Amino acid sequence: MSRDDQLIKSIAELKKSREAIILAHNYQRSEIQEIADFTGDSLGLARQAAATQARIIVFCGVHFMAETANILSPEKITLLPDPEAGCPLADTITVEDLRDLRKKHPRAVVITYVNSSAAVKAESDYCCTSGNAVQVVKAVEAEEIIFAPDRNLGKYVERMTGKKLIIWEGCCPVHDRITREQVEKLKKEHPHALFVAHPECRQEVLELADKVASTTGIYEFVRETSAGEIIVGSERGMLYRLEKENPAKRFYFPSEDTICPNMKLITLEKVLRSLEILEPRVEVPEEVRLRALKAVERMVSIG
Ligand code: 13P
Ligand code: SF4
Repeated sequence: MSRDDQLIKSIAELKKSREAIILAHNYQRSEIQEIADFTGDSLGLARQAAATQARIIVFCGVHFMAETANILSPEKITLLPDPEAGCPLADTITVEDLRDLRKKHPRAVVITYVNSSAAVKAESDYCCTSGNAVQVVKAVEAEEIIFAPDRNLGKYVERMTGKKLIIWEGCCPVHDRITREQVEKLKKEHPHALFVAHPECRQEVLELADKVASTTGIYEFVRETSAGEIIVGSERGMLYRLEKENPAKRFYFPSEDTICPNMKLITLEKVLRSLEILEPRVEVPEEVRLRALKAVERMVSIG
């Protein structure tokens, strides 16, 4: 039996005896996706965390996602197998930054992308994900809307809703470095390929897209299209399931380095260790949790 097989067997046994569920984001390593009970985008994972009967959630993703699980299911133990798995986009805005912005725009409604800390969510009126940002902004009736922290998603939502937003200047380093030139080059090399992109990409990249979608939306688009070749403007971890679910289709990524190093910090060893010692836990302080919950619940209840 290989080392990985041994780890997978031990994880399965411990998962059962601990009454745990393993949730994994679509960017996780393939072996983590393989052992997960559910893989999905931020919205899907939040929904699973809210619905599960398990006692323990092993969250294979980044810190803000585990926090969202804890906000929705505080009675469960939420484990993040590597506490260093953060999100540089979420780190672009602090509570103080958001309070300052609110002071400048006292009448504005604040919509915060789920890629933000629980403390920032607690200062927000609504939360949204890449999967429902357009719907949430459409649903909010306000003269002024602050949108934080992703500027590319914010600008995309502006274009889709026709609403002017006050946008925080954060971005995801993985998606923001995908260039228009890289995509145009691939399009030239594969003239029949369609291009599907995550809304964290820059505007000039999204302008080339046949479809803009969350990570789960990308899987749906690929499943449904009759095209045999698809250029994917997102993180390379997507390739595992794309190829598994669509063996006859071919996929191209704009560059070798569209990899989120934080997502790759979660390994089989760390998952096993976290189940053994029930650490590291993610626990949002109750006072923060209750305020963040309002914003997250509004998100979960909208499409
Ligand atoms: P999704 O919610 O679309 O999975 O995106 C999360 C993320 O971190 C993208 O970089
Ligand atoms: Fe954060 Fe970007 Fe990694 Fe997503 S891909 S977790 S936004 S750094």
